Amino acid sequence: MDPSQDNPFVRFKAFFWALAVFGLFGALLAVIALFNDKKPSSLEDVVAVDRYANRQKVEAAQDANFAYKSVEEGKVVQVPPADVFAHVGGMLSSAKPAAVERPEQVVPGSAAAAELEKKAASAAPVVIAENDANAPIDPAVMAAGKVEFALCQACHGPEGTGVPGLAPPLAGSEWVVGPVENPIRIVLRGLGGPIKVKGVDYNLPAPMVAAAYLTDEKIAAVLTYVRNSWGNKASAVTPDQVKAFRGEVGLPALQAADLKAPQ
Ligand code: HEC
Repeated sequence: MDPSQDNPFVRFKAFFWALAVFGLFGALLAVIALFNDKKPSSLEDVVAVDRYANRQKVEAAQDANFAYKSVEEGKVVQVPPADVFAHVGGMLSSAKPAAVERPEQVVPGSAAAAELEKKAASAAPVVIAENDANAPIDPAVMAAGKVEFALCQACHGPEGTGVPGLAPPLAGSEWVVGPVENPIRIVLRGLGGPIKVKGVDYNLPAPMVAAAYLTDEKIAAVLTYVRNSWGNKASAVTPDQVKAFRGEVGLPALQAADLKAPQ
């Protein structure tokens, strides 16, 4: 039997070896720390310093406000969550509600929508002049309009012939080449319900959704394009004409009866 196994000093030896290795690592880390440049070296680090300080401030403020409350001299208790909720609830309900700044952010059917509708009903109807139907059409506008038409094409077909069950035709449609305000308002507000196009009655299952997120320029271009493609011939649509109807954005989708009768 190896006597060293019973010798406690042999085990101690291993322990001291481990301690030495451990110490060596410690010394190495100390040397690295000593020579390590402490200055923040990147933008990330610079920001992190502030972020860390801010976080400490926020945590301190939260601690002060929510976490503990002194009930009597020298006695501090943790605030029950109900207090915290009441406090936050109070803060929220006294805060100013976020302003709905763009009409298209209004939820249809909401009180804000009803308010908007009332305003639109009492406002004087927008009247715009038709452009000269014989003025030449700018090819650059036609090209830009063709690009935007990719959206309309999904429902109305690449040649504007309409898609059964999806959308009526734009080619030869009196709504397209008629009063310019009709197609403008349709794109800004969407359109639903029964409609007669080229003598055919349509009542499609899904309404046309508004595309008011497009800029005035893009709407003007796409409408100029549909008004002057596939045999259609009508005046160009200008961004100003589109802009004149921006106030209607966010109102419920139009019905054919809301539009100006074509011809
Ligand atoms: C999601 C499918 C869809 C898209 C996309 C779409 N429409 Fe429509 N569009 C319809 C439907 C459906 C109708 C019929 C609405 C109704 O039931 O009254 C319609 C009707 C119309 C009408 C009046 C009726 C007619 O055929 O002349 C015009 C004008 C029109 N759309 C133009 C456009 C333009 C321009 C675009 C692209 C900016 C476009 N639509 C994108 C589905 C669509």
